[in-house]
Amino acid sequence: MQWNRKDLLTLYDLSGEEIEYLLDTAAEFKKVSERSVKKVPALRGKTVVNFFVEPSTRTRVSFELAEQRLSADIVNMQAQASSLLKGETLLDTVRNIEALQVDLVVMRHAAPGAQSFIAKHLKCGVINAGDGAHAHPTQALLDLFTIREKKGGFKGLKVAIIGDILHSRVARSNIWGLLKLGAEVTVAGPATLVPREFESIGVRVCHDLREATSDADVVNLLRIQHERQNASFFPSTGEYSRFFGIKADSFKYLKKDVLIMHPGPINRDVELAGDVADGPNSVILEQVTNGLAVRMAVLYSVSGCVQK
Ligand code: CP
Repeated sequence: MQWNRKDLLTLYDLSGEEIEYLLDTAAEFKKVSERSVKKVPALRGKTVVNFFVEPSTRTRVSFELAEQRLSADIVNMQAQASSLLKGETLLDTVRNIEALQVDLVVMRHAAPGAQSFIAKHLKCGVINAGDGAHAHPTQALLDLFTIREKKGGFKGLKVAIIGDILHSRVARSNIWGLLKLGAEVTVAGPATLVPREFESIGVRVCHDLREATSDADVVNLLRIQHERQNASFFPSTGEYSRFFGIKADSFKYLKKDVLIMHPGPINRDVELAGDVADGPNSVILEQVTNGLAVRMAVLYSVSGCVQK
């Protein structure tokens, strides 16, 4: 297939074929990352602005590294030091960035839909690095890449996503991607954080950790997002951990070859015990490694569709 989008905004918009195309392209870039010379000239002469209005470690560093490996010119914009603080609108800000003949903007923003909004007004490409509780497409792609690499495919694969589904852009993006590729998805957590409405999109909703995970091939744990919660959704962190945290004891009922995943940052010993996060079933750091190849694939694919 031919990739023909200048933006990557959500996985909801993409077909299964487009998602597989990005995963296949990432597999080629992963081979590049394993060579002694890791740099290729694919984005030579292109300029990328990284504009993170919310904090990030993994996504920001791996985008920057991916851009360097593709030989792009890079500007890292600090939102806290920008004229946003003087009242300039987001749209004026990115229009001024585009006027500097930038090819791609990689943006993280707290407002759901912020990237889709600016993408409609810009000729340059826009990559969503996370928008509020809405979407985090490159995180889901790296999760899908890791699952495919470890399990060989998605048809009939059982994936359980546990935790704060309500506030999670990672959960939404994973659900969209996994369903399009033929996996069976269960979401679980306290009823306040895992609404029944998810059933309407073909997801099994469960409020019991053991029931959700005992037949799962993959268990993806999510962080409790205190920064997006303006109410108390469960009585205490201790109770959350007792009822929904994965611990060494959970392996009494989990499949022996279950993949333990987490997008990071981890609240150790809350949603996931430290020894399980560092244990033999965990692929958490491999997810991070794969994020580099996935982001190279996304940057390369969308940059080919930007018309200047
Ligand atoms: N998974 C993820 O988005 O991590 P960061 O917030 O550190 O980028």
